[in-house]
Amino acid sequence: MDDRRGSLAAVDATAVTAEATAAIAAAATADELEELRVRYLGRKSELKLALREVRDRETGMALNTARRAIEEALSAREVALASVPDEDPTFDPTLPGEPVPLGSLHLLTQLRRRIEDVFLGMGYTVYDGREVETVWHNFDALNQPEAHPSRDPRDTFYVDANTLLRTHTSPSQIRAMQKQAPPIYLVSLGRTYRRDPLDATHTPVFHQVEGLAVDRGITLADLRGTIELFTSAIFGRREVRMRTSFFPFTEPSVEFDITCYLCDGQGCSVCKHSGWIEMGGAGVVDPNVFEAVGYDPEEWQGFAFGLGIDRIALLRHGLPDLRLFWDNDLRMARQF
Ligand code: DAH
Repeated sequence: MDDRRGSLAAVDATAVTAEATAAIAAAATADELEELRVRYLGRKSELKLALREVRDRETGMALNTARRAIEEALSAREVALASVPDEDPTFDPTLPGEPVPLGSLHLLTQLRRRIEDVFLGMGYTVYDGREVETVWHNFDALNQPEAHPSRDPRDTFYVDANTLLRTHTSPSQIRAMQKQAPPIYLVSLGRTYRRDPLDATHTPVFHQVEGLAVDRGITLADLRGTIELFTSAIFGRREVRMRTSFFPFTEPSVEFDITCYLCDGQGCSVCKHSGWIEMGGAGVVDPNVFEAVGYDPEEWQGFAFGLGIDRIALLRHGLPDLRLFWDNDLRMARQF
């Protein structure tokens, strides 16, 4: 009897609680926690044995308070451990991750940006024109005769009698000149629209680059130098050839070619055995165009040029069909 009393008195409820709650808080796994539950609250634990032997109310209350405190600590720790994700011992956070597949820019966007970069490097600005244009900006201000076939609704998408989807980027010249005084050095790139039936070499939506330089004393030689710089930046050093041509907004007008980048002028299937590749049109800005925007043609001179970039991208990469640019076929897109 004395012995039992002795063991009972030896249980210091406060000390057991402190020891148990500290151990429980430090438990790192569910297994460790279970061991602690057995040690402090199991059938043979000091506390349970003491509770069984308890005689007086005061000791009983103290021991029960300790039991409750330990139970609460156990369930709190159980909840905390459950919210920690299981660590996978085979996971090595220092290993490089799985590669994430990245998309790429559309081939035409890449070429478009490259062309913009070349001209930005020459001190030009990039001007964003409009895709929906007035007939006046698209044709009249560019000195296009009333009866010109390109005005025909069978060739051009009209929104109404005075509004259309631009057939070329040249109206950007007009908009820019209306907005600012010379000197002007700009390029304007974007979508253009014509009612062409869809086939390997025609799409009703295509892309052009327009260039315009207006300053004092500009000549055809400046145009030539600019085109040489531009084409060699894109295609590598090439010879440029100019042939006389006609555009209503330039006088004189030329079409320019470069020596074929595939055969270097020897003749191959890309250049149809001519040694030359047609690039675009250009010329000295017609005085009528300057008058349409209120510039004095006696004081200012300028050159302009324009070219389609879809066909050039096609030739440049040996692609067989313009429709590839619109199909969104990943096998095509992934190559660029
Ligand atoms: N706008 C013409 C076209 O669509 C291309 C062009 C030719 C633009 C001569 C020009 C130019 O600025 O001077 O075919």
